[in-house]
Order: sequence, then C-alpha cells, then structure tokens
Amino acid sequence: MTEQQKVHPVSDDFAANAWIDKEKYQALYRQSVDDPEGFWADQARRIDWIKTPTRIKHTSFDSHNVDIRWFEDGSLNASANCLDRHLETRGDQTAIIWEGDDPNDAKHITYRELHARTCQLANALKELGIGKGDVVTLYMPMIPEAAVAMLACARIGAVHSVVFGGFSPDAVAQRVVGAKSRLVITADESVRGGKHVPLKDNVDAGLTRPGTEVAEKVLVVKRTGGEVDWKEGRDVWYHELVDKQSTDCPAEEMNAEDPLFILYTSGSTGAPKGLKHTTGGYLTYASLTHQYIFDYQDGEVYWCTADVGWVTGHSYIVYGPLANGATTLMFEGVPSYPTHGRMGEIVDKHGVNILYTAPTAIRALMAHGDSVMDSSQRDSLRLLGSVGEPINPEAWEWFYRVIGNSRCPIVDTWWQTETGGILISPLAGAVDLKPGSATLPFFGVIPGLVDNEGNLLEGATEGNLVILDSWPGQARTIWGDHDRFIQTYFSTYKGMYFTGDGCRRDEDGYYWITGRVDDVLNVSGHRMGTAEIESSLVAHEAVAEAAVVGFPHDIKGQGIYIYVTLTEGVESSDELKKELTQWVRKDIGPIASPDVIQWAPGLPKTRSGKIMRRILRKIAANECDGLGDTSTLADPSVVEELIEHRAIR
Ligand code: PRX
Repeated sequence: MTEQQKVHPVSDDFAANAWIDKEKYQALYRQSVDDPEGFWADQARRIDWIKTPTRIKHTSFDSHNVDIRWFEDGSLNASANCLDRHLETRGDQTAIIWEGDDPNDAKHITYRELHARTCQLANALKELGIGKGDVVTLYMPMIPEAAVAMLACARIGAVHSVVFGGFSPDAVAQRVVGAKSRLVITADESVRGGKHVPLKDNVDAGLTRPGTEVAEKVLVVKRTGGEVDWKEGRDVWYHELVDKQSTDCPAEEMNAEDPLFILYTSGSTGAPKGLKHTTGGYLTYASLTHQYIFDYQDGEVYWCTADVGWVTGHSYIVYGPLANGATTLMFEGVPSYPTHGRMGEIVDKHGVNILYTAPTAIRALMAHGDSVMDSSQRDSLRLLGSVGEPINPEAWEWFYRVIGNSRCPIVDTWWQTETGGILISPLAGAVDLKPGSATLPFFGVIPGLVDNEGNLLEGATEGNLVILDSWPGQARTIWGDHDRFIQTYFSTYKGMYFTGDGCRRDEDGYYWITGRVDDVLNVSGHRMGTAEIESSLVAHEAVAEAAVVGFPHDIKGQGIYIYVTLTEGVESSDELKKELTQWVRKDIGPIASPDVIQWAPGLPKTRSGKIMRRILRKIAANECDGLGDTSTLADPSVVEELIEHRAIR
C-alpha cells in the first residue's frame, strides 16, 4: 500500500468521548447545509449576546454586489465573551500559560487576572484618546500583553491590526498608513531563540515614512530592558500608563457586523491587503471550530504554536480558546531552542493535551531523526493538529508515530486568513484519517472544484477549490477597497468564493489540497506574494527585471527562487547576490529571504511581453524535460540559456 492510500480509522475510544461522532457529524452537516439559518441560529447561542440576533444570514456572492452579513441585528462584545462570562465559573482557572524563550521563564495567568489586565489597558487606550472604530497596530512579541492588547481593543470597540513581529519597518509603515492607525503598541525588543529583535527601533524607522504621522502615539512594553530611543510626546511606556489604571472597564456594545480586526495578507498582485473580520460571525465560528475540531474538553491544556501575527494566532491562540474558557499556551520562542527537543519538553512541562503546529516545524524536527523526541514522554497528548500548508504523508506519519506515540489522531486543518476559521478538516471522532488529506468540510461549508472555465466538477477529480456559500467567519471585505475584494475572490468564478488553491477530491469525497494555483508562495507556512518580492528587487539599482517563483523545498515546503536580469553594465557576483538577499530581508522581513538567485540575461516572455512563469517554475524545480510548448515565446533561446545555468540539478 502506498502512503497515500493508508487509512487511520476513527478509534472507538476516542469517538466514545468526543463531542462529535460519525452519526452526529452526518446529521449536523446535513442540517447546516439544508437549513443554514436554523443551524447558525442554534450555534450562535454559544456566544453571550447583548441583543440576541434574529436576522441570521444575509449573504451574496454575486460579483456585482458581494455583501456578507451574519447575525446583523445582534450585539455583543468579543472581550466580554472571552473574559467576563468566565469569571464566575472559572475565574481562578489558568487562561494563558506563557512559556518564555528561556526555558526557565513561565507564567500562568488566570481568567480573573487576564480580565483585570485587559480592563487596565482598555482604560489606558481611552486615556490616549482611542475609541470605537479607531485602528490600533500591534507589533509585538509572543508575550501575554499581545493577547491583552487584542482583547483591550475589542473591549472598547477599537479595531486591531496585528503585524507579525518578523516583518520589516516598511511593512509596519505600509500597514499603519493603509489602515490609518492612530496608535502602535510594541515592545522594546522581542526574544526568539536567544536572539533579540529590536521591535521599537523598527517602529521608529517605520514611522519616519510619509503618511505614518497618523500614528500619534507609540505604547511600549518593556520586555527585555534593551536600550531604545525615545520620542517625547509620542512614546509612552506601557507599565507607566497601564499599571495605574482601574481594573474595571465596561465592555462596549458592538453590532455583530462591527469590525473586530484587520489582518494583512499577501495576494498574487499588489501590496498586501487588509482583510476585515467582524465581531459576531467571526467569534461564533472561531469558538465553534475550536471546540469541535480540536475536540476541546473542559480543563485541557491546548497549545497552538503559531504567532499572533498570523490568523492562526488570532483564531486559535486567542479568540477561539478564550471564548471557550480553555487554557491556551503561548510560546515566545522557537521549537529548536535551546535544543531540538524543546517542543516535546514544553508538552511535558505543562501537560499539553492538544498540540496544533505546522508541517514545516514537523519536517525540521524529523530531519534530526526520532531521537529528537527522547528528552520528553508526551504522554499527556490526546490530539494533534496541522495547519498552513499541505502536509506530506511522510511528515504526517512521523508526527503521528514519534510526536504522538502512535496514540493521537491528527487533524489536518485547511483554511486561510480570509476564512477566519477552519473550513476543511477531519473531526477526530467522526472521520477516518488519510495522511495528507484535510478530508471533509466543517459544518456549513460547501466546497466545490471547478475547471479553469468555472464549470463545477463532479465526483473524484482535480480542480480549483471554491466555496459555494458563505460561513460566519468569512472576511467581509478588504479594508477600504471593496472592489479589490470582489475582484480578488469573486470574479474569477462567478458567484463563488475562489480560494486560490488547487485541490483533488478522491472517491470518498476527501479533499487533498495541492497548493496555490496563483502567484502566491507558501514558504514554511508563511504566505508571500511573488509580486511583492519582485517589486522589492526591482527597486534595487542593479536590477533591471526580476521574476520570483517557488520550488519544492524539503523543510520549508516551498523555497524562493529568483531570476534576476541585471541593469546594463552591472557585473554579476556572489557579493551582489548577498546584497540582494539582504535587500529583500530588510525590505520585507527575514521570512522573504531568497533561497536561490539565478542570473538571467533574459526572461521567457510571450510576444505580448508577459513572463511565462510556468517555464520558470519548471526550471527552478529542475523539471526541464516537460517544459511544454515554448513556441509562443518571443525568444525561445532564452530558455536554453536558463536551463544551462540553472541552480538546482
Ligand atoms: O494554500 C493554502 C495554505 O495556506 C494558504 C492560506 O494561508 P494564510 O492565509 O496565511 O493562512 C494560513 C493558516 C490558516 C491556503 O490558501 N494552507 C493552509 N492550511 C493548509 C494549507 N494547505 C494545505 N493544507 C492545509 N491544511
């Protein structure tokens, strides 16, 4: 049997205690698609509403008028749902276990403490003049204050926009300007793998860019005590302002469709786009998926290894788990520090029951052999999860056998920044697992596969993954640019949400995501637009033209392969390669580091001047035999030249 055909059936023991078993899955899924209004009206009861919604679903994917509203006459507060409503029943339970980069650093924060700290910051934000509808940019380390900041914004109706702490000053600036953000919350430095990253310096540098004057204040958490520059009148120490505030702050009543947050993500063209997520639908969906997909049981310790800078951190470190009264673990560091056994050691130290991580992390550990897990037992684990990119069956089996001691089911969860929560995933008590497949849709989700003309395909087949109807966690628009939202997601295939992913469906109806079909890369689970990297490169004076493609990479999933045509008169050299690598790292962030740069005297273009990326992808993957038809190229000899000098053989 090949790895791809292997099936791990649902374990009876697991199903006996799970929230959802086979029968329940079938019945609830049916109801969710036959009667979405009834289904979602029921599910919304998991949330505490100030005003219970009576209008449940008002959604249109019509490309002339994309309009997505859920629970639109309801009102609530997300922070009250994550905090206040737990105080009576679980005030003294740990809400957040914080594990520092240094293995000797850890903290437990109860729901009561988290509530108090959130109220204090919320009051401080008010003192800074921030209120309902204002956008606050967070550029923070993985410290409890990051969660507190998100919840404090939610409490007063401010909209947070989290920027991943690995991004550059320019990325911060771009997002501050794009969202007209009035306040930035950051820290002096972050600490990862023993190294300090100067977050405050980056903010200072970013805020010198034109348009960033909108950010009137910068609130700075003292994390390391490292030296920082100080701009009087603009910069405020977090502890000086926040510690003196009252621990009581009423939660603002928000309409279900009021924005909760903006999160920027990369697309195939242009600058990153800020997806807008709203309050009622998002929270209902994050909470429901967290409970059922991770089969979260009261009292368990749940650990998602993502960063709060990504959507995974929003939905499955902060909002989903806290809305459910869970104990969520937040890890500041990296899984390889101080040793490669760290992840397992954290599981043992805190008795983690549910571990949600990324294929790239699993492959990185796997490369060190089974013995990397010798320093831990991991007996507390009950369920494992994977997210961010396709998981190859070998990595799946290793995750299962070595990390999970062949005891724990794995949920391979497919979703996107745009979807707000998981759309395709097994429920471990209900769905037999096939390594490498995200399996079946979650409640209310209707996936479809279409050919390039947009015809829906039936049965076992392969095509472009679309979603046929709305679900409550869906992004409502691109901040400030609804036309772009429609153009990007609803105009390729009329009346359908296009995911940008390719996918196969097998004879059991299981979905196998094959990766992006647009010009978006997925490097170590980080999403990046080729156009962003290209525009960074052509801004360098030595570069006349650049084309960026992905290529298969053993650990990262995809690596970044760059073809560069130099400006006339510029000599190629290894120094120049290093310089360009640094240039991109500085411009976008270290996650965009090129893996390979190939000098290209010319790029393969059609007669109308369009770069034929298909050919560049093949050469980068060293699949030079199957280049297909090159007769439409303006100059076919360019291809021979690129093949001859390709970097990977
Ligand atoms: O290509 C898919 C891949 O990640 C993309 C979404 O990236 P982002 O918005 O950054 O969100 C990542 C975390 C939700 C998707 O279009 N992707 C995500 N999860 C999976 C996946 N590909 C295959 N299998 C998955 N489980």
